[in-house]
Amino acid sequence: MEAEVRLKNTGLRGVKVADTKISYIDGEKGILIYRGFRIEDLAKRTSFVETAWLLLEGTLPTQDELAQFNTEIVAARQIPDFVYSALKQLPKTAHPMDILQAAVAILGMADPELQVESKEANLRKATRLIARLPVVIAAWHRIRNTLEPLPSDDSLPHAANFLWQLSGKKPDEEMARGLDLCLVLHADHTFNASTFACREVVSTQAHMYAGVSAGVGALSGSLHGGANARVMKMLLEVEALVKSEDDVEKWVKERLEKGEKIMGMGHAVYKTIDPRSTILKQMSLELGRKTGHENWYHLLTKIDEVGEREFAKQGKANIKSNVDFYSGSVYSMMGIPTDLMTPIFAISRVAGWCAHIIEEKFAEAQGKPALYRPSAEYVGDYCGPIGCTFEPIEERKAPSV
Ligand SMILES: CC(C)(COP(=O)(O)OP(=O)(O)OC[C@H]1O[C@@H](n2cnc3c(N)ncnc32)[C@H](O)[C@@H]1OP(=O)(O)O)[C@@H](O)C(=O)NCCC(=O)NCCS
Repeated sequence: MEAEVRLKNTGLRGVKVADTKISYIDGEKGILIYRGFRIEDLAKRTSFVETAWLLLEGTLPTQDELAQFNTEIVAARQIPDFVYSALKQLPKTAHPMDILQAAVAILGMADPELQVESKEANLRKATRLIARLPVVIAAWHRIRNTLEPLPSDDSLPHAANFLWQLSGKKPDEEMARGLDLCLVLHADHTFNASTFACREVVSTQAHMYAGVSAGVGALSGSLHGGANARVMKMLLEVEALVKSEDDVEKWVKERLEKGEKIMGMGHAVYKTIDPRSTILKQMSLELGRKTGHENWYHLLTKIDEVGEREFAKQGKANIKSNVDFYSGSVYSMMGIPTDLMTPIFAISRVAGWCAHIIEEKFAEAQGKPALYRPSAEYVGDYCGPIGCTFEPIEERKAPSV
């Protein structure tokens, strides 16, 4: 009872609600592992498609398996025309995350195996979702700019093809590799809010698309996937204001004094630096040099440094940069508009969502599937077991002000 009271209203922090074999975080040491492998190793040595296989299948693929999976992903980029027609009906001012959430439901209607619940069918649905989310986002970006969606270039790998379908320009190799690396870094992160949403939805035996559209909705929030775009807005605001490094210091202090957040800092699980942030920081510097935006890197590192120092003064020494802190600048340097940054997070995280959905549906880490059904303490009106006196509507008076 004592423990229950302490854990209420804490957003389930520290509550272990399930077993999982997919990923692991050591928040004290800043370690992230997918299926046993350190994120630093995966970042150096795998592509996103290989990482997606690892998450879905539980092991690293052989060369033949990877080649086959790549072929399946490329083939699944073709989506039925009615999906494009539906996108063309939607308001061009809509936020791409809202479009994506709607598009996932529409893609479900286009999936011939929507209601087939074997493990093999779910793996095929996962392949289609991984292949198609980037296609839909690129198509939407073109449609809202009154351009026609472009066909996939089947000779291009996953991230490069996305950049091509988005811009109509053959992507720079370094940029495409950089984006692929970002996709590896964002592909899974244990029981974060969106993954938990996916798992909770499919625990009712709803299909994979219902789970993934819930995941997209959860990811859209500014405390979750929306933070990278907010960091970019924050960076541009600082860039417009500063004349010297002292101005950055002043800006951070004022922001914290007003009780506002420094986006991209702090984490519900990491109590030290997020290992993904370290990798993205280096990428931000390299791309900054390549694109003439090295200034962004310097401003971010200054905000990071002052932020850490100010948090430490407040007794919150564990607030450090997270995955979103440098990723916004990296995406911007790749030519990605700010409002597509969270959808790109989704392009990656869909691999983890699908792996978790399959684990949940087939109880791969526990004895049997369980429907999530937590309870809450009722703290509302209570008039005893007979209930409150029900007044007919004509006798009710407005409460006096
Ligand atoms: C991610 C986040 C929600 C995790 O928060 P958490 O571990 O649950 O901790 P809380 O939000 O309860 O924060 C604890 C305290 O630190 C403060 N804090 C945490 N992150 C902060 C930030 N980035 N800027 C300013 N203050 C912050 C909170 O305001 C709170 O202060 P209080 O105790 O005086 O009320 C939080 O750090 C945050 O909002 N960060 C900015 C958004 C972001 O980058 N999200 C992406 C996450 S990957």
